[in-house]
Amino acid sequence: MKLVVNPVVTLEGHLRGPSDKSLTHRAYMFAAMASGESVVRMPLRGEDCESTLGCMIQLGLSHEWIGETEVRLIPPPEWRQPNAPLDCGNSGTTIRLLSGLLASRNLDCTLVGDASLSRRPMRRIGDPLRLMGAVFEGDTPPIRIAGGNLVAIDYFSPVASAQIKSCCLLAGLRAAGVTRVTEPTLSRDHTERMLRAMGAHVVRSGDSSDLDPLQHTSSRISHLPPTVEIHPTHELRPFEFTVPADISSAAFFMVAAVLLPQARLELLDLSVNPTRTGIFDVLEQCRAPFEMGRARDELGEPVADVVVGWARDPQPFTIEGSLVPRLIDEIPVLAILASQCSGVSVIRDARELRVKESDRIELIAEGLRRMGAVVETFEDGMTISGPTALRGATIDAHGDHRIAMAFAIAGLVADGSTTIIGADTIATSYPQFESDLMRLTIV
Ligand code: S3P
Repeated sequence: MKLVVNPVVTLEGHLRGPSDKSLTHRAYMFAAMASGESVVRMPLRGEDCESTLGCMIQLGLSHEWIGETEVRLIPPPEWRQPNAPLDCGNSGTTIRLLSGLLASRNLDCTLVGDASLSRRPMRRIGDPLRLMGAVFEGDTPPIRIAGGNLVAIDYFSPVASAQIKSCCLLAGLRAAGVTRVTEPTLSRDHTERMLRAMGAHVVRSGDSSDLDPLQHTSSRISHLPPTVEIHPTHELRPFEFTVPADISSAAFFMVAAVLLPQARLELLDLSVNPTRTGIFDVLEQCRAPFEMGRARDELGEPVADVVVGWARDPQPFTIEGSLVPRLIDEIPVLAILASQCSGVSVIRDARELRVKESDRIELIAEGLRRMGAVVETFEDGMTISGPTALRGATIDAHGDHRIAMAFAIAGLVADGSTTIIGADTIATSYPQFESDLMRLTIV
């Protein structure tokens, strides 16, 4: 499917964006471990999360939709041995977190994915799970996990990855002893927060859940020793959870608002977990106006309304170090923003971008160059020189939803039409993207 985007005059309105993908995955998985029935309201109905739900159903989770937006989830007494491979689709979170859960169970499972997922590295979870005692085969999907009695480990993850950390913690829930995971800098901590809200014994050295989400600067986070430990937990409480909006999806329209003259965008029910709000650090560096309302709590997750507006003369920015995991999924659209800033923006320490749904460093650079921008790439990042008057172009999404949406936003400020090839991949995380684009923009 193609998406054709033409330049617009401005953007205005409010957006209760799609619900958070990371939180929806976790809600489905964790409900299958609870001691009773959970209720999830407004889960993300994107393809990635539907893959997780499908896998959990295969493993014995019962579900019942109440209307369109609420689902009752009933865990099985014991997880069932699936008689077909578990299909994780395009979703790295599904395969890596589920691997951690399966490693401690007496099941023998094969996990598969689509062409993109089948290229993504799995040794990063295979290594710790084997150390804990599981059988793990395959460096890329398909992978096979034969679980059983695990022993706790003290693991230093070579990358700041919530998927690796969560995989180890979930395996640790049923291992003998206390499992510890240390990461180079703090990655998103949804697993820790949700499991703690369900009654698990999770301890972080210098606990980030006390952080005020309004204090979103990375310095507030980076001095914390990012080690987390989990104690084996036999009973997890069921929960009721209304999934807040996903900051990584809202980011596309935030950037559009910063770039379009006189724009104003009000974002409702946004998840503002401080391990996810790195985009606000960038908006600050850019001198883009934004304001965050009072945060409230949803199962340990801070949620707030946020207003973002046009930046008359956006300044260049640097993304590096501990900021990277706090905005890793937003980098494609922040690169579009960089092309409109007056000066050279720098992205480094972001090697992980090469092993996302695509090699995002190459695809961002290739697409931006096609539209006329000046980009230099290196192994762990890129520089983007601006401001550039972008020209409409044809961009192939290469099966990557965030590449498709980032270049659709570029099309709003380009001269002429921009065509996104393979735009159906957007349904992975943001099924209503095109209708929100039409509704919020003014031509
Ligand atoms: C996710 C973690 C991130 C992120 C992904 C979702 C999660 O990946 O890119 O979209 O839900 O834990 P890494 O943890 O591998 O960086």
